[in-house]
Amino acid sequence: MAVPLRTDPANKSSVDEIRKRFDGDVERFSNLETGQSASVDSPLMLSLVTEAAARTTPAASRVLDVGCGAGNYTLKLLEQLPGLHVTALDLSGPMLDRAESRLLAAGASSVRKVQQDIRDFHGEPGSVDIIVAAMVLHHLRTDDEWLATYRKLYNLLAPGGSLWVADLVDMQGSGARTAAWRRYAEYLEQFRGPEYREQVMAYIDREDTPRPVVFQLDAMRAAGFVTLDVLHANSVFAAFGGMKG
Ligand SMILES: C[S@@+](CC[C@H](N)C(=O)[O-])C[C@H]1O[C@@H](n2cnc3c(N)ncnc32)[C@H](O)[C@@H]1O
Repeated sequence: MAVPLRTDPANKSSVDEIRKRFDGDVERFSNLETGQSASVDSPLMLSLVTEAAARTTPAASRVLDVGCGAGNYTLKLLEQLPGLHVTALDLSGPMLDRAESRLLAAGASSVRKVQQDIRDFHGEPGSVDIIVAAMVLHHLRTDDEWLATYRKLYNLLAPGGSLWVADLVDMQGSGARTAAWRRYAEYLEQFRGPEYREQVMAYIDREDTPRPVVFQLDAMRAAGFVTLDVLHANSVFAAFGGMKG
């Protein structure tokens, strides 16, 4: 099994290609019980992230879900913090429509849909209490984009607010990297066979540019986050977050 991600970032999928792919994939992201099955420990990360968010910022009334997809993370958060006002941000219109109907049915007080690339989003500083970004930031490409995005998310949070990320991640050291990707390949093969493994690895190679957790925690710290925690890490998936003091 080759480690993917060899493609030059300049030759990766464009934002438009990514949007079109997700436009046609709404069903796969609409199951709260399984989460996204191509990810290792998806239901566990969903529950760790939302419990940490609710316990860190218990008086939250406003949430921003970056790359909300069909809304799984905010749906789960609503079980612990009912009546949230939700800003749902995604590239994909069909994903946003599905998220809106599911979130309103689950008791969200309001849902504001924003169809935009997170890189282009300019919200009001201090306007949200919790931000979740699940399985989305790995589409960011350059160092500058990563640093600017973490700065932006920090600025959007009110004092005491918190940001929680669950994502596909890479490793820094070559040994750890090979081991982590091998484990993920094994997971995919056991889940649905060798063809499925190759298919998922090929689209990661084409579409994704994940960064190590350590790089992301450094970016969060540089942005101003003070209390940082890793909630979970298993092969090339991790969940972590931080609080704005
Ligand atoms: C893998 S899905 C995850 C959906 C949801 N967060 C979940 O965990 O169930 C990634 C979502 O992020 C959106 N997305 C990808 N790149 C984005 C970007 N640059 N800005 C905003 N949304 C993006 C896609 O359209 C897609 O709906």
